[in-house]
Amino acid sequence: MKINNPRFVTSVFKPGKYPTDIKPEIAFSGRSNVGKSSLLNMILNEKKLAKISSKPGRTQSINFFNIDDKFYFVDLPGYGFARVPDKVKEEWGRLINDYLFNRPNLIGIIQIVDARHDPTKDDIMMIDWLKTSGLPVMLVATKVDKIGKSKRAKQQKNIINKLDLPEEFYFSFVSSKTTEGKGKILQFLQEVLNSSRIK
Ligand code: GTP
Ligand code: MG
Repeated sequence: MKINNPRFVTSVFKPGKYPTDIKPEIAFSGRSNVGKSSLLNMILNEKKLAKISSKPGRTQSINFFNIDDKFYFVDLPGYGFARVPDKVKEEWGRLINDYLFNRPNLIGIIQIVDARHDPTKDDIMMIDWLKTSGLPVMLVATKVDKIGKSKRAKQQKNIINKLDLPEEFYFSFVSSKTTEGKGKILQFLQEVLNSSRIK
C-alpha cells in the first residue's frame, strides 16, 4: 500500500466540530510525547506535516489529514501529561473521549506506547477501552532505535503482559527515526481499509 497526496485539513478544539464528509478515519493514540506526530510523518513520508516537539503536550487539538481523498489520518492529543492545568486536561479528555466514543467514521486505531518503558496507568486504561470498542487496534512500541536488539523479545512480552493482550494482537516495534516497522503498519492499514463498511 502507498500513501499518496497527504494534506493537513483541520485542527479541532471542540467536541463535535469534525469534518462533515464521510470517509474512513484511522486515529493515532498515545500518551503525550510518545511520538504520535513523528510516527504519522514517518508513514506519510513527510518531515513536518504533523507538528513535532520535544516538549510534551504539543498536539492540543485533534488534527485531520486527508490522504488522497480516500481516508483520514487523525492525530489525537496525547493523554497523561502532568504539567498542564487541570482545566486543560479536562478539556483534552473530553475531546478525546468524544471523538473515540461518538465518531462513526472511526474504523481503526494505532495505539502507541514507548518501547523502552512499562505501559503507564493511562495506557492501560486506554487499551482497556479499546478492547471493549470492537475496533481493530494495532499496538506499536515506538522509539525502538533507543533499545538494544537483545532486549526486544523480553520487552515485547513485558508490554503485552502488562496490557493483558492476547498473543495474536497486532503488534510491532517501530522507529520514526529509522522507519523500522513501517511495512507492518501499512499492512494493518490496508486490512482495516479493505474491511471497512465506510468507503
Ligand atoms: P504530543 O503531541 O505532545 O502528544 O507528542 P507526540 O506523541 O506527538 O510526540 P512527537 O512526535 O512530538 O515526539 C516527541 C519527541 O520524541 C520528539 O523529540 C521526537 O523527535 C522524539 N521521537 C519521536 N519518535 C521517535 C523515534 O522513533 N525515535 C527517537 N529516537 N525519537 C523519537
Ligand atoms: Mg503530537
